[in-house]
Amino acid sequence: MTRLVRLPTAGQTLAFGTRLGARLVAGDVLCLTGPLGAGKTTLTRGIGAALGVADVASPTFVIARRHPGSPALLHVDAYRVGSELEFDDLGLETDDCVTVIEWGGDFAEMLSDSWLELRLERADDEVRTLTLVGRGPDWPAARLDAIVGDR
Ligand SMILES: Nc1ncnc2c1ncn2[C@@H]1O[C@H](COP(=O)(O)OP(=O)(O)OP(=O)(O)O)[C@@H](O)[C@H]1O
Ligand SMILES: [Mg+2]
Repeated sequence: MTRLVRLPTAGQTLAFGTRLGARLVAGDVLCLTGPLGAGKTTLTRGIGAALGVADVASPTFVIARRHPGSPALLHVDAYRVGSELEFDDLGLETDDCVTVIEWGGDFAEMLSDSWLELRLERADDEVRTLTLVGRGPDWPAARLDAIVGDR
């Protein structure tokens, strides 16, 4: 259940995030991976736009920030979270919101039996390649196809 999307510009990453965000529901968990500057926050900003959240920023100084929206957006930056114990201590509630975790690769499974992995890679220059991997019962191939096809 892997799908690839090519994102040639920051504007297209933002737009893809908005189309993805329009198909998300409360309880969804998304895990964003990719090197510094890959576009994780840009993608999250697009998702936020679809939920009515205008002020998504890098949550560098607060690990988790909850933005009111429909549904709410819980934006987590796990870059400095060193262990599962530390992540657990954040006490994140994910049932009534969309949760996006930057650098969340090691922690998504602590929150849900299902999550969407979004791996951003720099191709050349501005171009990014996004790999979507659905994990668990909430993310069947048909759901990925609806998101990737809807462009
Ligand atoms: N195709 C593209 N998609 C996304 N961002 C792009 C693209 N091309 C250029 N950029 C630029 O790359 C930068 C991405 O920054 P962003 O904060 O989204 O990355 P990040 O992965 O969240 O970084 P960090 O690991 O520091 O949190 C922005 O300055 C953006 O304008
Ligand atoms: Mg970021």
